[in-house]
Order: sequence, then structure tokens, then C-alpha cells
Amino acid sequence: MGNSHFIEQAITATAEAVEKALDRLLPQPEGLESRLLEAMRYAVFNGGKRLRPFLVVATADLFGVDKTRSLRVAAAIECLHSYSLVHDDLPSMDNDDLRRGKPTTHKQYDEATAILVGDALQSLAFEILASEKTHADPHVRIDLVRALAKAAGPHGMVGGQMIDIEADHMDLDMGGVSRLQQLKTGALICFSAEAGAILGKADDHRRSQLLAYARDLGLAFQIADDLLDHQGDPDVVGKAVGKDAEQGKATFVSLMGAERAQQQANMLADQAVSHLKDFGERAILLQGLAKFVVHRDF
Ligand code: IPE
Ligand code: IPE
Ligand code: MG
Ligand code: MG
Ligand code: MG
Repeated sequence: MGNSHFIEQAITATAEAVEKALDRLLPQPEGLESRLLEAMRYAVFNGGKRLRPFLVVATADLFGVDKTRSLRVAAAIECLHSYSLVHDDLPSMDNDDLRRGKPTTHKQYDEATAILVGDALQSLAFEILASEKTHADPHVRIDLVRALAKAAGPHGMVGGQMIDIEADHMDLDMGGVSRLQQLKTGALICFSAEAGAILGKADDHRRSQLLAYARDLGLAFQIADDLLDHQGDPDVVGKAVGKDAEQGKATFVSLMGAERAQQQANMLADQAVSHLKDFGERAILLQGLAKFVVHRDF
């Protein structure tokens, strides 16, 4: 079995497990608010790659964390990520009609419902982390809640989304684009690796190695996303392409061209792997993920 096959199978297996956890954690559509609950499920169950959940579970596995715990945290980050996508697609933001190969939530329902779906998925993510079922030690739960709040908030994903919107008239250089991407995409990816370390009560050294890995991985991941927007096949990618250039987005592709952006992504993936040395063979899934992220076509 080739190495790329191996990582794809591992990602699929974790995706199936996290979808089961999500199915248990998302409320069933009933009662007067059923439209919201149904739309939440629509926004989550639609063939996402579940890469952030994979990262949570693979890092937690390094420390022998019980799967029922890591899968709850994996479900929480996927709720938060799905919220970010629902809002990212709104007409006032990227104005996209297609997500994961299906109509975006505001197209399938309406804008007000999509806004509420995002709000509700965000709250649910924190409710899951704060539960005793996620970890018996309240310090661990507080660490998880704090880390996700930071990653999602003003100096994290949401801050990045603000820069992304303003970037067309900011004339960002490489440093600026790196910062934009680190916030809008990198922060949630860093959280995913950090969460495994928090669950596993990793020492500071291990935690910073995993964070260094995730920082490079996150940047490589967003460059790959920008390359897919530039030259991907919309039927495979599951979302419209060519929108970044149309909307004047600042990306590595707009700054350095596709070829150099791909080289940069490959370089970052190698650099990410180099931070895993101390984990040896046990980090094989994280190594595979770094390769997968820059070679994916969806
Ligand atoms: C897309 O993320 C949005 C970015 C942050 C680039 P993914 O490529 O992980 O999207 P899904 O979850 O698989 O649909
Ligand atoms: C999205 O970046 C980042 C977040 C949702 C936080 P993009 O706008 O590039 O993601 P896609 O291409 O729509 O998935
Ligand atoms: Mg966007
Ligand atoms: Mg978008
Ligand atoms: Mg994109």
C-alpha cells in the first residue's frame, strides 16, 4: 500500500468516527426551533474533509488519550469550523453559492437562518468542550475552552476574516499575507494540534513542537486552498473557483504566482514534518497529513 493511500484511509476512518460523534452531539430537529436544528445539521453533514478533527485525534493519540475524549474535541472544532464556513459564504462576505458540492446554507435556507446556524454551532462547540464528558479534570477543560476562544476570536479566525475582507485595498506584502492566513486559517489548525497536547497533558516542549508543526501545516494548507481556487476543478473541489482573483483577495498565489506558491507550500510541509523528529515513528500520521495537505485536489 502506497503512503498516500495509507493517509487517505486513516483520514476517512477518523472522519467516519467524528461524524458519529457529531450525530450524537448535534440536537435532533424538533420543537419550535427545528428549522435551526435542521439547518445546523445541513451545514455540518455535507462531506467536509474533517482535517481538523483528524489533527486533534492524531495528536491526542501520541499521548494515548481515550478516543471518546479526543472525538468530542474533534467534533467541537468541526462545529466551529463549519460555523466559520457558513458565515464566510454569506453574501456580505465571500458571497458563495456552493460549499462542499452543495448549495451554501444561506442558499438552501436563507440568510437569517445561516447567521443563526453559525452562532449556534459556535456556542455548541464551547458547550462540548466544557462538558465533564470531554475531560474529568476541570483544568484541562478550561485550557481547551481558552485555547479555542483565542483561536476563534479577534486575534484568531475572526480577526483574519476582517483582514481578508479589507485586503483588496491594503497592499499586503508577504509578511502581511502570512499574518492574514495565520489568523484566518492557521489559528484553528493550531488549536487542533494544541488540543491533542492539552488532552494528553503534554509537557511544554512537546506542546511547542506540535504547535510549530501546526503553524507550518496551517500556512501550507491555506496556500493549497488558494492554489485550488486558482487552478482547481470545481467539480472536485466542491466550491466555485476563480473567486479570489475576482474579489481581489491577497493570497500567496496573487503575490508570487502559482508555481512559486506551490514550492512554498511544499517547503512548509517539509518544515512542518521536521518539527516532529522527537516523536519518531509514532508521528507517521501527522507526517502523512502534511504531505496530503499540499498534494490534495479537493
Ligand atoms: C476550507 O477549509 C476553508 C479554509 C480555511 C481554507 P477545508 O478545506 O478544511 O474545508 P472542508 O471542511 O473540507 O469543507
Ligand atoms: C476561509 O477562507 C477561512 C475561513 C472560513 C475562516 P476562504 O474564503 O479562502 O475559504 P473557502 O475557499 O471559501 O473555503
Ligand atoms: Mg473567505
Ligand atoms: Mg470563502
Ligand atoms: Mg479559498
